[in-house]
Amino acid sequence: MKIKLAILAGGASFEREISLRSSEEIIKYLDIKKYDINTIIVPKEKNTSWVKELIDFSPDLVINLLHGGDGENGSVSGLLNCLNIPSIGNGVLSGAVCMNKNICKAVLKNSGVPVCEDVFIKKDDCITDFEEKIKGLGFPVIVKPNNGGGSIGISVAENIDDVKSLAESIIKNYNDDVLIEKFIDGKEVTIVLIQKNNNIEVMPVLDISPKGGFYDYNSKYVDATAKIEFSTLPLFIRKMIEDIAKKVFKIFECEGFCYVDLIVKEEQVYFIEVNTIPGFTKHSIIIKTLKALNMDIGNFLDELIQNEL
Ligand SMILES: Nc1ncnc2c1ncn2[C@@H]1O[C@H](COP(=O)(O)OP(=O)(O)O)[C@@H](O)[C@H]1O
Ligand SMILES: [Mg+2]
Repeated sequence: MKIKLAILAGGASFEREISLRSSEEIIKYLDIKKYDINTIIVPKEKNTSWVKELIDFSPDLVINLLHGGDGENGSVSGLLNCLNIPSIGNGVLSGAVCMNKNICKAVLKNSGVPVCEDVFIKKDDCITDFEEKIKGLGFPVIVKPNNGGGSIGISVAENIDDVKSLAESIIKNYNDDVLIEKFIDGKEVTIVLIQKNNNIEVMPVLDISPKGGFYDYNSKYVDATAKIEFSTLPLFIRKMIEDIAKKVFKIFECEGFCYVDLIVKEEQVYFIEVNTIPGFTKHSIIIKTLKALNMDIGNFLDELIQNEL
């Protein structure tokens, strides 16, 4: 008997297009002799037709590829829990906490994980009240939607006027809170973690070298010009990165797989974020990591599915 797999893709978030691309890519690796696959497209508008479609299909397992928004913030995981449908990957807690960059960093800071300095502004706060604190970070700073993803809405600011207009545009266009961080001018790295039974396996650290100033939406998904290769950082730094990433995985009770973004500057490693519903597009970190290691992506997915069932 084939295993009934529902793939959730699309969704209402700003990462909808990436999610659709992830779903098109992932089915290339799933063996139709083993799986009866139904890709359920979650609409842009909030409606529940897709939930009915999911219940009617009655899958043995879900692969949630809804990046950003309710798909990644634990809401969909919670729904699946209530419907008693297992899914591979991260659950409610890791999804909810890691989606909120401010809360995620606060938890990690409290656990001794190094994070960069920041100023957090709620969307109904008055930005002027934070001017001195923001200047205290020193310029440049990086201005982010607090619950964003895919580098969407992120920009670098060179002065306080830029910060103000970028923050206002995040509040207006993304209806989000704003995280302003000290810009760490260092080497960006990322690392994939995979849970096998009760073990957390760390994949080799990857160096990310975007062509422009930072790893933005364009260099991630449009021209995809960022160079991604096995890290050439000294061994002891790579070990530090692995230890931090493992610690993060444990703290947030991550499940299945995720990847952690970090920046290294002068032997200091700064945590940037955890991605709990990683992309599966050709240019995505998970696919690049597995391919670089000559690992079979189909087998990787089979194992995750078997683990969950
Ligand atoms: N504090 C920082 N200093 C320098 N670059 C940063 C910093 N934070 C993020 N970046 C750059 O912005 C990119 C996206 O930031 P990130 O927080 O990972 O957001 P997203 O969830 O949208 O991927 C990173 O991959 C990195 O290139
Ligand atoms: Mg990121």
